[in-house]
Amino acid sequence: MSIKLGVNIDHIAVLREARQINDPSIIDALSPVKLAGADQITIHLREDRRHINEEDVANIIQNSPLPVNLECALNEEILGIVYDLHPNKVTFVPENRKEVTTEGGLDLSKSEFYLRLDTAIMAMKEKDIEVSLFIDPTVEAVRGAKGLNVDWIELHTGHFANLYAMLNTNLKRTKHSIKELNTQRTLLEKQLKKSLTDIQNATNEAKDFGLKVAAGHGLNYQNVKEILKTEGISELDIGQSIIARSVFTGLERAVRDMINLINAK
Ligand code: PXP
Repeated sequence: MSIKLGVNIDHIAVLREARQINDPSIIDALSPVKLAGADQITIHLREDRRHINEEDVANIIQNSPLPVNLECALNEEILGIVYDLHPNKVTFVPENRKEVTTEGGLDLSKSEFYLRLDTAIMAMKEKDIEVSLFIDPTVEAVRGAKGLNVDWIELHTGHFANLYAMLNTNLKRTKHSIKELNTQRTLLEKQLKKSLTDIQNATNEAKDFGLKVAAGHGLNYQNVKEILKTEGISELDIGQSIIARSVFTGLERAVRDMINLINAK
């Protein structure tokens, strides 16, 4: 079974927000992503609205030729917007105002949060919106998700991607957001291997329970080949690396390049 690709187009809005005029227009991304053969548009409506805003969400849902996966935090105001605008899928993610990007998966161990999440999931399911939870790739986190009425889990691949970048790029000589960059190479190699085993184990646990498994965060044209070795993943959600490449190649080509790597698995 082929692995689907969701293209996260938030970064187009990041560029737009740099000037706060409607250029580039986020709507112009929809057609090239579809033409390239991707399966889903992914967007993240953040509480701080640093890129996508509710008007974008409404326009994207209305005009997208592909199903829309809307990522959001468990925030009452945002939940109301999501409920009204009715995307095809909602992915609940944790949010922290100061983060550069989503840093980890949802913490399902706190009962108050768990109950609020359960209520929000029920409301989405009543509207026939598919629900996914963005969680760390651990068996414990998957077990937490099992008690909730969700269709999907999305495994956070950021830790894997950071380790891969520490071992395989010249990150040290650039401005970066990775804290553990001075770790010894042999230790990094071990940690990288473990991160992939964790992703496989979490996937197995989810599949055994009948959950569909997506993965995303920090995936790019180099490291994706390692993630593709995981058995059981149905979808990848990728943003930064595709939009970065599109600056040079155009968006359709950048998406197609990623799809070719996925299909070459
Ligand atoms: N999946 C989720 C849940 C995310 O929050 C993000 C980042 O917004 C992505 C996938 C895509 O991550 P990246 O932009 O690093 O490819």
